[in-house]
Amino acid sequence: MIYLNGRIVPNNRALISVYDHGFLYGDGIYETLRAYGGKVFMLDEHLERLFSSASMIGLMISKKARDIKKAVYMTMAANRLKEAVIRITVSRGAGPIGLDPGLCKRPTFVVFANPFRMYPRSSYEKGVKIIISRTRRNYRKALDPRIKSLNFLNNILAMTEALDQGALEAVMPNYRGCLSEGTVSNIFFVKKGILHTPSPDTGILNGITRRIILDLAWGMKIPIHEGCYRPRDLSAAEEAFISNTTMEVMPVTAVGGRVIGKKAGPVTRRLHGAYRDKVAEYIREANR
Ligand code: PDD
Repeated sequence: MIYLNGRIVPNNRALISVYDHGFLYGDGIYETLRAYGGKVFMLDEHLERLFSSASMIGLMISKKARDIKKAVYMTMAANRLKEAVIRITVSRGAGPIGLDPGLCKRPTFVVFANPFRMYPRSSYEKGVKIIISRTRRNYRKALDPRIKSLNFLNNILAMTEALDQGALEAVMPNYRGCLSEGTVSNIFFVKKGILHTPSPDTGILNGITRRIILDLAWGMKIPIHEGCYRPRDLSAAEEAFISNTTMEVMPVTAVGGRVIGKKAGPVTRRLHGAYRDKVAEYIREANR
C-alpha cells in the first residue's frame, strides 16, 4: 500500500502523471528513513532535511511536519510493518513541458514503506569493498549535494563504476579531487587513532547518520578531523566505514584493489555498537 497525495492506495493504483516534472526533469526531493520496532528513527531530523531540501529548490510543501508524520505512520500501518524502510518523495507535480516550476500547480507527495531487509551479517563482520570513482561529485555551486534531490544521475554513474568492479559503493572525489561522499552514504576512516571524514565544504549531504557518529565519537573522546582528503589517504587508512540510515555503520576493508583490513576494525565496531545503543535508547524514549 502506498500513500499518494493524501490517500492510502494499493500499489497498482498508485499512479502519477507522465507530465510529472519529477519524471520529466528529476525535479523533486526525497528522504529515506528507517523504522525499528514500529518507531521511525530520527523522524524530526529527516523532516527538517526534507523541508530544507524543498526550500533550496523553491518547492512549497503544503503539509505540516505533523501531517507528514501521520502519513508515514499510516503507510507503515497499512503495510503492517514494524521494521521498515520508508521513503518520502515530493516532486514538483504535473505540468506542461517546460522548466518553469510555476507550470506545476501541486506537488506530488508519495510515501512508501517496505520491509527492512538486513544486509548480510558477513558484510558487518568482514567488511565490504568500495571504490573511488572517476565520476566527480556534483560541484556545490552547480547542484548542491545538500539537496537530497531526485536528480541522481551523478550518483548512478558512480555506482555503475562500483558495480562494474564488484564493489558495494563508490566514493566520489569533488571537483578539486578531495573525497566527498558515497553515492548513498558518507565515508569515514581511521588513521593513528583519529577519525577522519570529509568536511561539509567538500560538498556532501549532511548525513543524519554521519552527525550521530560524530557526536558519539566526541562523547567517546575519539579525536575527530574533518577536511579535504585525497584517494591515497583513504587507501592508507587503518580502518574505514560508510554510513547511512539503512546500513548504519558498514565496515570497509577494501578500497579498489587495495585491502585495508581483514575484518571490521576496533574503532568501527565500537562506533557501530554505540550507534545501536543510541537507536535502542531512542526507541525506548519514543515508546514512553
Ligand atoms: N542515502 N550521501 C548521500 C548522497 C546519500 O544519498 C545518503 C543517504 C547519505 C547518508 O545520509 P543519512 O545518514 O541521512 O541516511 C549520504 C539514502 C539512504 C538513500 O539514498 O536512500
